[in-house]
Amino acid sequence: MQGRKAPVVLAVDDQPMNLELLSECLAGTGCEFVTESDGEVALETIHRLRPDLVLLDVVMPGLDGFEVCRRIKSDPVNRLLPVVLVTSLSSVHDRMKGLEAGADDFLTKPIDRNELMARVLTLMRTKEVFDKLDDAEHVMAAFAKVVEAKDGGTEAHVERVGRAARALAEAVGMSSDDMDLVYFGGVVHDIGKVGVPDALLLKPGPLDPDERIRMRRHVLVGVEIARELRSAASVIPIIRHHHEWFDGTGYPDGLVGPDIPPTAMVVSICDAYDAMTSDRPYRAAMSSDLAIAELRRGAGTQWDPDLVSRFLRGVMQEPTRVVGVSEPSVSAPADIRNQGGR
Ligand SMILES: [Fe+2]
Repeated sequence: MQGRKAPVVLAVDDQPMNLELLSECLAGTGCEFVTESDGEVALETIHRLRPDLVLLDVVMPGLDGFEVCRRIKSDPVNRLLPVVLVTSLSSVHDRMKGLEAGADDFLTKPIDRNELMARVLTLMRTKEVFDKLDDAEHVMAAFAKVVEAKDGGTEAHVERVGRAARALAEAVGMSSDDMDLVYFGGVVHDIGKVGVPDALLLKPGPLDPDERIRMRRHVLVGVEIARELRSAASVIPIIRHHHEWFDGTGYPDGLVGPDIPPTAMVVSICDAYDAMTSDRPYRAAMSSDLAIAELRRGAGTQWDPDLVSRFLRGVMQEPTRVVGVSEPSVSAPADIRNQGGR
């Protein structure tokens, strides 16, 4: 958003009435509202205008919303441009298709004005934070993407962790500086894995003691990288301490409970949840219910129980489902459990 006053929202829909409705909903937000009715033309407009957010109808003649989204996200320049799919499709299959296309969020028709405003403001705030990063931070974020690719994940993982960490920080009343910090920490906490061999990162099953030692070095390597980039010093506690355990059995310093920086604990919880529910080349994703049960199981040992509870209530925002989730009769396999804990 550098160099211009109002953030630009591009809405793409083949139905003029829907565009009018979106325009009315966003009136008063201070955004510049631009519309297109065709996917191909929208891609050209994105290239020309560099909007700050795209609201994309799914069912359109020509390129559908999934394909437009996929093309937006496959251009490295637009990778961080938030895309919200606006759809009347609500099946899990369609959501999965949207996620695979790289969509950042979904809005279901009929549009609820408050929901639209909330999504738009949150996503634009995230992008604004990223736009404000200095060169050193961009270097670190680039490292984080390399690591994510090495680690067999998708680049969307670290951004989801960052966004969830920001939401958790907000839910517990952290300052806006700390909210920005945990977003950035969520993206870059594992940059030290750039020094871990691929064979180790992608090894199926548990690591042997020697491999575990080599894997654990990633936090110290990450600190060294961040130290070289002086303006990134504030994120060092997150990088160093995101594998500390609440009961003192974590690493590298064996910090206990309140001695662990809360920002690092926030990132640890969000990373673990997202890692457990993501597919990797060497294992399938856990269900959300199983991952939630794992978080609850680790509350008080691995994680601060209060923060886990805030995460489940404030970030997952599914109180009835969370309350109703039953503990699985068996633990998740060790190679799936707490991937963030490697
Ligand atoms: Fe890590």
